[in-house]
Amino acid sequence: MFTVSIMQFQSCTRTSAAFIRVLLTGLALLLASPSIQADRKDAKADAVEDVVEKAIRGASHEEAVRKLVVERNIAITYEYIATLMRLPNAFGEGAACVICHGSNDPKKSYRGLDLTSCQGILRGSMEAPARAVVVPGKPKKGLFRRYLRNNRMPLGVAFDYPQDTANILAIKKWIDDGAKNNAVFQTKVLPLMSLRGAFGSLAACSDCHMSNQEPPSFHELDLTSYEGIMLGADAIAKAKQGKPPAKIVKPGNSAGSKLYQRLVENRMPAGISPGEGRDHPNTQLLLRWVEQGAKCD
Ligand code: HEC
Ligand code: HEC
Repeated sequence: MFTVSIMQFQSCTRTSAAFIRVLLTGLALLLASPSIQADRKDAKADAVEDVVEKAIRGASHEEAVRKLVVERNIAITYEYIATLMRLPNAFGEGAACVICHGSNDPKKSYRGLDLTSCQGILRGSMEAPARAVVVPGKPKKGLFRRYLRNNRMPLGVAFDYPQDTANILAIKKWIDDGAKNNAVFQTKVLPLMSLRGAFGSLAACSDCHMSNQEPPSFHELDLTSYEGIMLGADAIAKAKQGKPPAKIVKPGNSAGSKLYQRLVENRMPAGISPGEGRDHPNTQLLLRWVEQGAKCD
């Protein structure tokens, strides 16, 4: 039934916020009553939402910031970044970053990350393993982009679902042991991808990532076979740009593998809805500040 609701909305644009909202609504319905059928009333409400989403897209804040600030390379000052870190709802609905990341002391601040000053941002997380939050000049590196744009998987899983369950650790170990197509993979790893409830959500990974065609499979990602997992994401879309697929597994390196990262990394601020747009104007501005060198003056 879940698959049916995905097919129904395949006319939505790629991974758009509307698409994700619709999916989550579908999930919520599924949770509320396992026997409920997607009736015509819901379909109409979803269609209206979809139309509104498209109608306002051309005049969105996202678009305005992209065209008037990012594309013209207007300088972003640290003063603006300091404001963002202190502001509730700055990147979509949620608490201000500094509430949870206000000190380098891991006893006072999650991950020992201090986002209250420019030096603190440049220092990064101090709790082991220490990690860089920004790499000046390189917005795709550092943790800001990952934690502000990527939703934890399965999409919609609660932020406080543990990060070290036996199933998550099984995936991690398989990657660290070389990600081979062996008996461990076939009996302990692959079945988890199609098992509902395996990672704290009613949806299984393969409900949303079941083939290398999008739609219906998000990111053209097929988690139902060894070949699909090792091929990675967006093979067809990337090939059109002359690029290789985005690998999700780096054998021997779970920390660097998206397959493991997506199981444990919560999008920030903690508790944010996955339906919030991933290219929020303030996310664009923060990443542009990093690209311009993450200057403190
Ligand atoms: C309500 C508390 C809370 C808020 C608000 C919050 N975070 Fe977090 N953050 C956490 C927790 C807990 C972790 C560690 C576990 C995890 O990944 O969920 C974390 C981890 C991180 C990490 C990864 C650090 C590392 O080395 O693992 C980054 C980056 C981050 N947060 C950035 C932000 C930003 C930017 C904001 C504001 C948009 C923010 N956080 C708001 C609780 C919060
Ligand atoms: C309800 C649908 C849904 C479910 C269930 C789901 N995903 Fe996803 N997945 C998405 C969407 C949507 C995206 C892209 C947008 C985003 O990052 O939030 C995505 C992105 C990803 C990516 C990133 C691909 C890339 O190239 O960046 C990985 C890896 C991934 N999912 C793995 C998983 C795993 C593993 C599971 C099961 C634990 C899972 N997903 C379950 C919808 C889902």
